[in-house]
Amino acid sequence: MRVAVLISGSGTNLQSLIDTTTDDPSMMAEIVLVISNIPGVEGLNRARRAGVLALEIDHTKFKTREEFENKMLEALDRTQVDVVCLAGFMRVLTKNFVSKWRGRLLNIHPSLLPLFKGLHAQRQALESGVRVAGCTVHFVEEEIDAGAIIVQESVTISVGETEESLIEKIKKVEHTAFPKALKLLATNQVYLDKEIGKAKWLSNP
Ligand code: GRF
Repeated sequence: MRVAVLISGSGTNLQSLIDTTTDDPSMMAEIVLVISNIPGVEGLNRARRAGVLALEIDHTKFKTREEFENKMLEALDRTQVDVVCLAGFMRVLTKNFVSKWRGRLLNIHPSLLPLFKGLHAQRQALESGVRVAGCTVHFVEEEIDAGAIIVQESVTISVGETEESLIEKIKKVEHTAFPKALKLLATNQVYLDKEIGKAKWLSNP
């Protein structure tokens, strides 16, 4: 399976996807393209160091969301991508993009969904007083952070936990959760039933 990763920043999740797919052929996945909407971010260097095609598609250079997305859609087509992973990609995708890639589009979010959707999920968790937090990898739907869940990993919130320490703690588990979810999809152990918008499991993960 040929995989593109869309990023906007440091790309530590991208790095874990590159490392695991390179080291483990049983993942049945290869990262072939990285796109960042922010020029010059560290994630682009990570891709280039790994010999992966890395494109900057700066959203501020386009008049509309559609034109920006069309540029990405062209690159995905050209590179013959099968699956797209959103790994810290900070743009909301339109219905057009999501419907084209539905079932083949994954996102990682730093909370145990359906709790704490949207921005600053770790801060939301801390403020709510929950004692367990975590991350979720899910199929992307038009509604933000709402698609069928593939993998979740939890962490315990410590006494004196800060937003910064929780961000780091959750990132650690993200780095195993995303490769796990990609492997489940690439090896056909899970797929999205598009009629009902739910995950269908073919074996117990
Ligand atoms: C991750 O915490 C992810 O859940 C969120 O953005 C962050 C990206 O981090 N959507 P990185 O760029 O992979 O280091």
